[in-house]
Amino acid sequence: MSKILVETYGCQMNVSDSEKIISKLRGSGYDITATPEEADVIIINTCSIRSKAEHKVYSRIGEITQTSKRPLVGLMGCVAQLEGDRIFEHASQVAFVVGTGGISRISQVVERVLNGEKNVLDIEERAEEEDWDISPLERHSKYVAFIPIIEGCNKFCTYCIVPYSRGREKSRPADEIINEVLLLKAQGYKEIQLIGQNVNSYRPLTERGLEQYSGATSFSKLLRAVAATDMPRIKFTTSFPRDFHSDIVAAIEENDNLCNWVHLPVQSGNDRILKSMRRGYKTADYLRRIEPVLNSKRDIALTSDVIVGFPGESYQDFEDTLKLVEQCQFHGLYIFKYSQRNGTPASNLSNDIPEDIKTSRFLNLEILQRNIQKGIYEGYVGKSVSVLVEGLSARSADDLTGHTTCNKVVNFRGSSTLVGSIVNVGISEAKTNSLYGTLK
Ligand code: SAH
Ligand code: SF4
Ligand code: F3S
Repeated sequence: MSKILVETYGCQMNVSDSEKIISKLRGSGYDITATPEEADVIIINTCSIRSKAEHKVYSRIGEITQTSKRPLVGLMGCVAQLEGDRIFEHASQVAFVVGTGGISRISQVVERVLNGEKNVLDIEERAEEEDWDISPLERHSKYVAFIPIIEGCNKFCTYCIVPYSRGREKSRPADEIINEVLLLKAQGYKEIQLIGQNVNSYRPLTERGLEQYSGATSFSKLLRAVAATDMPRIKFTTSFPRDFHSDIVAAIEENDNLCNWVHLPVQSGNDRILKSMRRGYKTADYLRRIEPVLNSKRDIALTSDVIVGFPGESYQDFEDTLKLVEQCQFHGLYIFKYSQRNGTPASNLSNDIPEDIKTSRFLNLEILQRNIQKGIYEGYVGKSVSVLVEGLSARSADDLTGHTTCNKVVNFRGSSTLVGSIVNVGISEAKTNSLYGTLK
């Protein structure tokens, strides 16, 4: 029986898609392996968000084809969807290209290439009903599960490739999501993360399963319905500022199992740049949106994303971003240098920012954020936090690692028998991106 290896790059949606791909392939009788030397077929589930991610795909194809076994290589995910059959011209070693909609058909494609067919292409739409139904047997963790609730994006921010690689927003029916949560709970999962490019734009065609929940938006109704399953921990990511309504915070405040973490990317602190990015809000709107989060009686950790060096960003514009970041006191911040993506409106803007300036802004913002985070993390010293123990720490054989409900990494000394349980840890030390403590 042929052995297949699936490599995953990119966001949680790709992790979740890979879980489905592996489930499908195993269901069709293929063996799944984690050892490249053993694999007859290597599938790369690709990401296209920045040019670096895309380049990685091509260097990885090169590496794979130099191995002695010369496995068949297939591309899936966002690069596959966007590039389609052009990939066969750039990389003749690639046997098949299957886009973001082709997961349910992967076994047939693999069978065709194993039978000697070349250049097999599938960038067709997702067979919606079929696909959403897949309940992955192959989750990335035994304790934390990703549940896609919405795929695609209708926002068309001018820099972003996602609307092209993932298509329009498609929300999954609520009753299906709730059934999956109940199943995961029965399987012993302690945390679920509702995932989507913009989870709070969730809008199913029917609201089956949500009827009894009040609330202004479909998403907050879904949150309440998911909370009612008594899954111990529920997180969600990513939220979109324009659709971030205060009833989401109200739902968190009503339900202890809705975790105290909100990831709400701001992208820039300058209104002209936000307009050029087509984000659909001004900084003042963003600040208004986060007010309920910051004023909440629950201690909600707010995290964000920022792009530096967007075309036309002057030093003063960048200073506005510094000011906003200072003001928001994010518990965590992902900083990205603007990366031009072919086919997006921003790729036609002329006033590109030189790479060295992007780098210096990146480092500048990083230093500011590190200082802010230092203060926030030090505030946890002496406090007790609840930690879902996810495994052994990579740094030390005697330490365990896990996340708080506010999504911070905590390491502490403890026995491996604790893995999979939720424990209280007294924090004794704050590091740059993690906390250290002792079991209570
Ligand atoms: N839907 C989410 C973000 C999804 S993409 C939102 O709108 O907030 C994840 C992050 O990648 C974005 O928040 C953005 O900061 C970054 N990103 C997207 N396209 C990019 C590009 N072309 N260059 C640099 N960073 C980019
Ligand atoms: Fe990209 Fe904007 Fe959609 Fe986020 S909202 S995925 S940044 S287009
Ligand atoms: Fe990358 Fe596609 Fe996700 S471009 S970030 S894998 S939606």
